[in-house]
Amino acid sequence: MYGRRVLIGITGGIAAYKVCDVISTLAKAGAEVRVIMTDSAQEFITPLAVATLCRHPAYTDANFWQPTHKRPLHIELGEWAEIFAIAPLTANTLAKLTYGMADNLLTNTVLASTCPILLAPAMNTDMWEQVPVRRNWQLIQTDSRYHSVGPDAGILACDRVGSGRMAEPEQILTQIESLLHTAGKRDLAGKQILISAGGTREHLDPVRFIGNPSTGKMGIALVQAAVHRGAKVTLVHAPMETKMLASVQQVRTIAAGSAAQMQQAMLECFPDADLIIMAAAVADVKPAHYTAQKLPKRALPASLPLEPVPDIVAQLSTLKQPHQRLIGFAAQTGDILTPARRKLQTKKLDAIVANPIDIPDAGFGSNTNQAIFLNSEGRQVEIPPCSKLQLAHHLFDFLQEEAGN
Ligand code: C5P
Repeated sequence: MYGRRVLIGITGGIAAYKVCDVISTLAKAGAEVRVIMTDSAQEFITPLAVATLCRHPAYTDANFWQPTHKRPLHIELGEWAEIFAIAPLTANTLAKLTYGMADNLLTNTVLASTCPILLAPAMNTDMWEQVPVRRNWQLIQTDSRYHSVGPDAGILACDRVGSGRMAEPEQILTQIESLLHTAGKRDLAGKQILISAGGTREHLDPVRFIGNPSTGKMGIALVQAAVHRGAKVTLVHAPMETKMLASVQQVRTIAAGSAAQMQQAMLECFPDADLIIMAAAVADVKPAHYTAQKLPKRALPASLPLEPVPDIVAQLSTLKQPHQRLIGFAAQTGDILTPARRKLQTKKLDAIVANPIDIPDAGFGSNTNQAIFLNSEGRQVEIPPCSKLQLAHHLFDFLQEEAGN
């Protein structure tokens, strides 16, 4: 985010207070943030609050209508922005944008800019469900420069429970990060991507299992990056936090607790996928015996007989069709390259992500990661430490270059 130029537009809705979080996080991450507030936005939060958070005066219509010796403000801001996020977006501003109307600083700046625009609508459920609003929302999305986040369903400030709730700040930030990476391109449009994520659990009884520290964050980042780039995504996931699952939208999700369940789900979804990314940390072994009732402590075995579980990705490679590509992950300690190269070959993958798990801020549970990508033709690209979302985008860039896109 450092040094990136992010323009935020705030229109008049109660969700305006949540955008303060977005502005604050961006500014703390080193982004340059400028904010335009409509008159009604200022009924909810003040320009002073916004200016304090973004370390720059907030722009209002009072600035727009001032004579200037420099170029007009909407032109300056429109050309300056790398991305323009409008949150919350009211029904009124949506209607103006849909029809290219420009009667204030915010809407004029939209017309004077060419960067990607992210829309985060927020309104009462009945307002959101009105025919003209639905129509405008569909119409505006036929213009490829517009991207959307939310609205979600939930409790609204008007006490209603329904859709119209603005996407959470974290979701908005994730999409801003994606758009800064891709400049708005949807280069995975038309692609079906199957992604596995999380650590499987091999149960001994209903309570105890053999597991691993994978949280599924890398897999979720891959899903988000793929969706933001226009792909249709299916996620097969081992147990993970509900908050993480809630952070992916427009995705088919299938829960799979054990390696056997994941194998079944992957085999079922595999024929429809163009690209398969096996990011899950799948067990290698499981207890040889499963007891359906919880074992009393005294009945726990002194040693645990184990048996291997199927290698899912290796099995998928035997079924692979010429148009399909299969990508694995190798979470390693020490020398990450030698075992990753071996896995690339023995599992007959198209590419593998060699991922260190024994250094700070990388691997399991961390929000950041680093990796070396290897493909079956010997290409090797090293990705220095970055967010998991960035790493996911770098992987798609690598795969797209490989495919000549
Ligand atoms: O052999 P290892 O577990 O290190 O290989 C890692 C890769 O193989 C990952 O992509 C992982 O999802 C996949 N794998 C699998 N089935 C297993 C074990 C690993 O698909 N039983």
